[in-house]
Amino acid sequence: MQIVTTVDSLRQILKPLSKEGKVIGLVPTMGALHDGHGALIKESVKDCDITVVSVFLNPIQFGKNEDLDKYPKRLEADAKFAGSLGADYVFAPSVQEMYPDGDPLTLVRDETLESLYCGAYRPGHFRGVLTVVSKLFLISGCNHAYFGEKDYQQVFLIERMVKDLNFDLQIHRVKLVREDSGLALSSRNEYLSEDEHSRALGIYGGLKQAKAAYEAGERSVSKIRDIVLKSILAARGIVQFVEVVNQKDLQKFSGMLAPEDKVVILVAAFFGKTRLIDNIELN
Ligand code: PAF
Repeated sequence: MQIVTTVDSLRQILKPLSKEGKVIGLVPTMGALHDGHGALIKESVKDCDITVVSVFLNPIQFGKNEDLDKYPKRLEADAKFAGSLGADYVFAPSVQEMYPDGDPLTLVRDETLESLYCGAYRPGHFRGVLTVVSKLFLISGCNHAYFGEKDYQQVFLIERMVKDLNFDLQIHRVKLVREDSGLALSSRNEYLSEDEHSRALGIYGGLKQAKAAYEAGERSVSKIRDIVLKSILAARGIVQFVEVVNQKDLQKFSGMLAPEDKVVILVAAFFGKTRLIDNIELN
């Protein structure tokens, strides 16, 4: 396992490997790796000859009052963890290395979904994500890239970007990983107090109840939403949104669901000062 910190050195390593026909997998992260990232790394190691894990806390995807400054940083431990799972390189550039001229003038953005769901509450977030992910694709020349379904809107937008812009690589969605308690794994879970952590289980509790209701025949979008809302409110969470949306285009459903509808519930809620997101596919 080698830590690489510059764009040029990563290219110098990967280009010859690529020419030899080696298949390169990229796992983009912001660090503070946990078993959710572990699942992405394992998939890449299984599919690819070379796995690169990028660890870059991307400032342009954070809003002014968000947690950029307090986001956990532990590069050495991350590299050890990634290496123990079979990753070959950790790419950990500085902000100066990634954005040598300051904030980029050229941004990648989608014009429809960036202002919905997470994007409605985090203006500029998705263009920051799509821009850095494009840079990482171009820098690494990867053949495959791995993203978790916890960030459901993110992975959807990245898949669309790859199609829309003809990036020559394959995106892999990896299933969300939960703690034994049911809480979706996230680097931000570290911010939760014990009490907030146990209350935050109300998110998955609500999602599970909604899925059970759906499986028992409930098709009313408002009733399905209410089940999740009630569970989070009962746990004294502050709900940002609970939306019942189409897996295919992330458009909101309303009224009654049809049998052919592919449905996912997207949630964002605060417990204390910590914003958590989660989701569940109903079919
Ligand atoms: O999901 C994340 O950790 C980030 O949004 C990503 C994809 C690494 C881009 O900075």
